[in-house]
Amino acid sequence: MACGNRDARTRWLHPDMHYNPVSEQLDDHNNIRSLQVLELSSTTDKLVPFSQDFRVHGFDIYWDNLDPAELTLMFVNHQRSGGAISIFKHRVGAGHIQHVKTVRSHLLPSPNDVVATSRNTFYATNDIKHARGIMRKIEIYFGMPWGHVVYYGPEGVASKAFSGIPYANGIAKSPDGGLIYVAASSEPSVIAFKPTHDDGSLQPVSKTLFRGFVPDNISVDTLTGELLVSGFLNALELLRYNREVLYGTNARPAGAVRRLLPFADMRKGFAEESVLIHDGTLLPATTTAVIQRRNRVRRIVLGSVMADHVAVCEGLQ
Ligand SMILES: *[C@@H]1O[C@H](CO)[C@@H](O)[C@H](O)[C@H]1NC(C)=O
Repeated sequence: MACGNRDARTRWLHPDMHYNPVSEQLDDHNNIRSLQVLELSSTTDKLVPFSQDFRVHGFDIYWDNLDPAELTLMFVNHQRSGGAISIFKHRVGAGHIQHVKTVRSHLLPSPNDVVATSRNTFYATNDIKHARGIMRKIEIYFGMPWGHVVYYGPEGVASKAFSGIPYANGIAKSPDGGLIYVAASSEPSVIAFKPTHDDGSLQPVSKTLFRGFVPDNISVDTLTGELLVSGFLNALELLRYNREVLYGTNARPAGAVRRLLPFADMRKGFAEESVLIHDGTLLPATTTAVIQRRNRVRRIVLGSVMADHVAVCEGLQ
């Protein structure tokens, strides 16, 4: 997200702000700087620029052993007509991604993050029930348990997989896909779920509660199965930062990253440790932390939905 237009992004992440979408440029939508975003024209059968809104938030990349060079990319897309998940495919080495389909559903009034479970199925979080107005404020400030997870199955139908989550935020899966992890920011907790095979609904297995830490996003280290959870020490400072970032602010939402190690018996949840704490100067409102490996070098890359840069932490244990 760091590469996109921060001004435009702020408008779709804060739908209550006064905003005239007529001035929105196609380029504002494109946060994927190195790849063209294309679709197949139904009239000429040629690849043409993607014609829909492309206002991204969380995303995921999926591939499998059948053809590891064909990637599926799924994006939360805050289209002006409503929340959606846009699915694209990409051949490794190609200079573009090609639109496959956009899933729209009334179950996605405020989608946040998505995890792909196959080329055409996913789980997506919906953080709040009311995307706009006073009810949006009430939900966020009072941490109402009105978020949910949506399952989109192979039949092309969206359903509620689990409801009653206080601000369902980041979502990720375990390396073998057997567990789905969701950050419930307003609880604040990380919940581990087991997907059921018949209808994709989610069965809670364990919950890890936090004190003095509001989890935002989750990434999974596919080599070890550990979770990296990024979050904030002061959520109100974060909300102030997000509101004021375009006009200048002295808010400095301190951030932290915690590592959760799943116990062999998942009903016991996770062992938890602190990876880093920062005062917010490095990267205000850090929302994402992912591990990057180059041979034996490990780094953590930090990102934020509001920032115009990423930060890198070297020398990790
Ligand atoms: C959350 O982190 C995952 C990496 O696990 C990333 O793919 C996703 O885009 C992030 N979501 C947001 C909203 O930044």
